[in-house]
Amino acid sequence: MAFIIAVDGPAASGKGTVASRLAALYGYPMLDTGLLYRAVGVRLLGASGDLDDDAAAEAAARGLDLSELEKAEVRTRAAGEAASRVAVHPGVRAALFALQRDFTKREPGSVIDGRDIGTVIAPEAPAKLYVTATPEIRAERRWKQLSGQGETVSFDDVLADIHKRDARDGGRENAPMTQAPDAVLLDTSEMTIEQAFDAARRIVETAR
Ligand code: C5P
Repeated sequence: MAFIIAVDGPAASGKGTVASRLAALYGYPMLDTGLLYRAVGVRLLGASGDLDDDAAAEAAARGLDLSELEKAEVRTRAAGEAASRVAVHPGVRAALFALQRDFTKREPGSVIDGRDIGTVIAPEAPAKLYVTATPEIRAERRWKQLSGQGETVSFDDVLADIHKRDARDGGRENAPMTQAPDAVLLDTSEMTIEQAFDAARRIVETAR
């Protein structure tokens, strides 16, 4: 059976870095599922701009072309906010399900990160991590990343975004962000990237 490494957690927790380092270590392909929702959000922003239109959002998700995940636009703050708004629509989640599910079937294994991987997309994954950090530390990381991309934004606004996103992602009815009962919690608040990767590697090795 394919060895699936499922990495979930809130925005800017370090899950993306941990996931890509694990993928490089094992030579597995990696899918950042946040990019799928971001690309759907970007599509809508470029069309009607109405993120609450569930039918249009679902159509955007069904027509998604994977090359859209490569655009710099999907990494912006606006795309992150739009992603979390379109992610509440059950039709959008359903439209993106098969693509994610197919990815997890890759042999000999894969790394997939998001919010609902261990709970909905691949509940059977043998290795599950739930990566988190305090909202303040996550805001600091995200602020540095956005500033590095040339976006002008204050730390307080980024912290407010983080709180809003946590509430929306954790509070939605459909596939809310939550730690799977069998996922191992990794709090990276006090860790360097190296330490977080090391801890993640140990968790995965235990599951192998
Ligand atoms: O991980 P990232 O911050 O890029 O995700 C953007 C948004 O996409 C999240 O805030 C969340 O609302 C949504 N998302 C989701 N399920 C996933 C991955 C991301 O709902 N598996």
